[in-house]
Amino acid sequence: MTPSDVKATLSFSDGSPSMDLPLYKGSIGPDVIDIRKLYGQTGKFTYDPGFLSTASCNSTITYIDGDKGELLYRGYPIEQLAKNCDFLETCHLLLYGDLPDEAQKKDFTARVSNHTMVNEQMQFFLRGFRRDAHPMAIMTGLVGALSAFYHDSTDINNPVHRDIAAIRLIAKMPTLVAMAYKYTQGQPYMYPKNKLSYSANFMQMMFANPCEDYEQNDVLVRAMDRIFILHADHEQNASTSTVRLCGSSGTNPFAAIAAGVACLWGPSHGGANEACLNMLGDIQKMGGVEKIGEFIKQVKDKNSTVKLMGFGHRVYKNYDPRATLMRETCHEVLGALGLQNDPLFKLAMALEKIALEDDYFVSRKLYPNVDFYSGIVQRAIGIPVPLFTAIFALARTVGWVAQLNEMIGDPEYKIGRPRQLYVGAVARDVKPIGDR
Ligand code: SDX
Repeated sequence: MTPSDVKATLSFSDGSPSMDLPLYKGSIGPDVIDIRKLYGQTGKFTYDPGFLSTASCNSTITYIDGDKGELLYRGYPIEQLAKNCDFLETCHLLLYGDLPDEAQKKDFTARVSNHTMVNEQMQFFLRGFRRDAHPMAIMTGLVGALSAFYHDSTDINNPVHRDIAAIRLIAKMPTLVAMAYKYTQGQPYMYPKNKLSYSANFMQMMFANPCEDYEQNDVLVRAMDRIFILHADHEQNASTSTVRLCGSSGTNPFAAIAAGVACLWGPSHGGANEACLNMLGDIQKMGGVEKIGEFIKQVKDKNSTVKLMGFGHRVYKNYDPRATLMRETCHEVLGALGLQNDPLFKLAMALEKIALEDDYFVSRKLYPNVDFYSGIVQRAIGIPVPLFTAIFALARTVGWVAQLNEMIGDPEYKIGRPRQLYVGAVARDVKPIGDR
């Protein structure tokens, strides 16, 4: 980061001494005001719950311009990556800073393929869950449990450990998600087949069974791969910030990623794709397109807690570029499956059109985000709704790991420890219970 020749001067109306704060410029995007010395010099904290105006770190991985609706992974526009690359190339880009050449791609693919199996003991964890457990409850447990098996890659301060843990996590997430799914279905687990591509392997672990040959549908494999690319990373979102804060204590990478899985589950974050599809189902039950107006009225009613799931974003105040690409994938998948008239897809498009013409959404700059269409695509592929967020976690694991490794690799990093504005009781004495 480059020191700016502009300074910020903080002055106080009560005559307290003012303070110059340095500014830094990034390569693109907003400058930052360095407040690291603020408390030491003024005895005051800044106050920013929800971190609406706070940069928690400097990063070279992902850039988002919310006003333009722009998303870059290591400088490459998401539109170009989605159209010209596959997920493993994107993983290499996010982890190591550039797209692989042929030889590097071959080597990286081989390294990932060699780690797709999980320890046979892992299946005994699953047996402890109810068959109807939510897949994210299972995934939170399984990912954390990985640290019980890989003691040779848990020293986060050892770059070799960090790299092998990254490969293991990327390689094993599809296996774990497929196992979580098969467990809820009461079906036998399918082992990875390393001769298949990453996404084709995931599809066979999900949908094949030992009794018959499984035939891949290339359109669905490509759609799954694109879903992984679109969800791979997204700057300092809630779950990535969780992984960074958790990892900053020096805990092992598996535990830090498990914290990210837990955070992603929330309906305001990665859980929105499941919530969005349930919302479309509810509108369908109300009567479909004709009832959209009635539903929108509920959303606008301040006394209701109803939100238009899959709409709105902390950063995007324009179209989420991933939503545009996801809508395209919707058309491709539904077309390939002869489901062009899928009622939920038609309902989603009608809902999107109506919302984008309604001043409530336009005035608040609420546009479709990545979750608005991803559920429809996943449903068409055959992914059950409760598994949508686990798929998101599978894809986001590479982003979490890349961000975690970037932080740990920065010699300046410290354990994250925010302060607070205390508004509770001042010191008081404990009274004997009889006098309370
Ligand atoms: C993801 O951060 C990331 O990058 C996340 C993510 C990633 O890749 O990691 O992009 C993935 O989490 C996408 C977002 C998925 N969530 C949803 O689709 C859930 C629905 N969206 C909302 O919950 C909301 O838009 C948030 C949580 C996403 C963002 O909320 P903010 O930035 O805190 O904005 P806000 O809640 O302050 O909303 C501003 C106004 C409020 O109205 P007023 O108080 O001004 O009257 O907009 C309203 C909100 O009530 N609003 C909505 C709305 N989203 C915001 N009203 C109806 N429906 C919505 N979806």
